Amino acid sequence: MHWAVSCSFLGRTVHSSTQIIPQTTDMPRHVAVIMDGNGRWARARGLPRVAGHKKGVDSVRSLVSDCGRKGIAHLTLFAFSSENWRRPPDEVSWLMALFVSLLEREVKSLHRNKVRLRVIGDLKAFEPKLQDLIHDAEALTSQNQGLNLTIAANYGGRWDLLQAMQAMLASKPHLALHPQHIGEADLSAFLTMADAPEPDLFIRTGGEQRISNFLLWHLAYTELYFTDTLWPDFDEAAFACALHSYRARERRFGRTSEQLRVES
Ligand code: IPE
Ligand code: IPE
Ligand code: MG
Repeated sequence: MHWAVSCSFLGRTVHSSTQIIPQTTDMPRHVAVIMDGNGRWARARGLPRVAGHKKGVDSVRSLVSDCGRKGIAHLTLFAFSSENWRRPPDEVSWLMALFVSLLEREVKSLHRNKVRLRVIGDLKAFEPKLQDLIHDAEALTSQNQGLNLTIAANYGGRWDLLQAMQAMLASKPHLALHPQHIGEADLSAFLTMADAPEPDLFIRTGGEQRISNFLLWHLAYTELYFTDTLWPDFDEAAFACALHSYRARERRFGRTSEQLRVES
């Protein structure tokens, strides 16, 4: 059987790794990161946990520029999960204040560097000032052609699937009457990041080996990379190690190694 490597559906490019076999390249087109270990980094130095979040911003800056230089098209960073509200109120308020001050201070420089910034997650929960800053930053950078930087904030993979289901049924009510007609593309079109390829490489720093309700749908065939390095220590060399590991993977998407050898 012949499998298409890319296709379009009603004028939209289909990125689904289960509907088509994606073209793979040595450099990932989309990197998704769980930036974990800030609190432990700070505690190991006798500092308050929030000092780790502050230091982690340097790692974000470094990774954003590194991805830009390497021509990686999409970088998605998990900044605050839908479960992180369970943290002590002081830490949550501090994180929100950090988010506000970063948007106030960094957006101009992102714009100068042609970065297109987007924030995914249930933004209604944020204070109006933060929602406005997010909206303004997205509007300012929306036409940029450089790195697509997506920040996941108050994001949960289950929230994403639920909101997609609700939006799909609101826009196509007839599907509720004929659920057997619902196809993958009907739903995925309403997921956040529907216009981006699925992540090729997922990185989690901080030693834990779990997804923590990040991109549940999108990670179907993503290569997973876990490192003990804490996020504030994640520098260019650490990213190079992740890319090196990625290049050594054989991405079969359900096929056998023998098939891959014949096709190459
Ligand atoms: C990740 O670092 C940052 C956020 C979740 C906001 P943590 O704060 O989870 O750091 P650890 O895992 O406690 O070290
Ligand atoms: C995941 O880290 C969320 C972010 C990095 C934003 P957590 O530290 O919240 O994850 P768990 O609780 O260890 O799974
Ligand atoms: Mg953590």
